[in-house]
Amino acid sequence: METIDTKASILLVEDDPFVRKSMAVFLENCGFHILQAENGRKGFELFTEKVPDLMILDLQMPGMNGFDLLAAIKNDNSAFPTIVVSGTGSRDDVIATMKLGAWDYLTKPIEDMVLLELSVNQALEKSQLIKENKRYQLHLEEEVSQRTAELQRREQELKMTLISIVDVVASMVEKRDPYTAGHEQRVTSLALAIARELELAEERYEGLGLAATIHDLGKVAIPSEILAKPGKLTSIEYQLIQTHAQIGYDILTEGTAEFPWPIKTIVHQHHERINGSGYPLGLSGHDLLIESRILSVADVVEAMASHRPYRPALGIEVALQEISKHQGTLYDADVVTACLSLFANKKFSFEYS
Ligand SMILES: [Fe+2]
Repeated sequence: METIDTKASILLVEDDPFVRKSMAVFLENCGFHILQAENGRKGFELFTEKVPDLMILDLQMPGMNGFDLLAAIKNDNSAFPTIVVSGTGSRDDVIATMKLGAWDYLTKPIEDMVLLELSVNQALEKSQLIKENKRYQLHLEEEVSQRTAELQRREQELKMTLISIVDVVASMVEKRDPYTAGHEQRVTSLALAIARELELAEERYEGLGLAATIHDLGKVAIPSEILAKPGKLTSIEYQLIQTHAQIGYDILTEGTAEFPWPIKTIVHQHHERINGSGYPLGLSGHDLLIESRILSVADVVEAMASHRPYRPALGIEVALQEISKHQGTLYDADVVTACLSLFANKKFSFEYS
């Protein structure tokens, strides 16, 4: 019969020297390396010291018996192969040893030693499969965790790259329109504060911050003399300025950067109003992303509170009156409530450099 691993080591724990010797000689002839112990305690010491591949043990032994030895081994190593060879052969003993995790039970005296060899080889084969399976699982888990870490690192790098691109674009827009310097940053800080009030999900919060930073990106296509014109705009000039929401969306759509957030949609919708009276599409209510509804309120409040080329600052009170007056009609009711609460109760204020 084929032996699975001829160098496998077997620990024999048997108090009867004659039985122990005969099994040792037979198994050595089968090609196994044999360790011997004459009682349970020595057996356990050898098991701990030498780490054999399999243990054959008697049940009735002085001191630590076979049941105690089985219990001690299985406590730490439930997958360790053990074969009980006992003269009692009682049904209760067989059940008790199986419950303790013994893999096989042979009755003494073993009439045909080939049965012992068969039992040993089957146990070693099963044990090897268990070990390989464990190794494979461990390897798989390591691989999964390594790949997950790598993906997270790349995702983080991509995010950082996108954020730096957004920063560059934002400062480019601001350079062309110095009269509204700081507008994007102040709008961003108010929009994010409102989002916190509304407990917006963390992943949406990041996207809102970036969209707010470049919400007026489309103004790069508007002549700077119109952006900086001191005094009232003509209706054609006003219409031209209004195209910036669509142009911003077009630029972000044509670009190759794939944002993990709906930035282009937020930019597109930042002048929409919930009753459908905004531009460029006249969308209403829940057709608008919550991020867009937040950004539109933050944008209006900042714009009214601050200085513009065509008028002096109107002040925060006037800005807050404006959103209160149109709460639920032009502006999302919950967003307005959150914004008013920030200024009234949370001491929110804009920072001007
Ligand atoms: Fe705008």
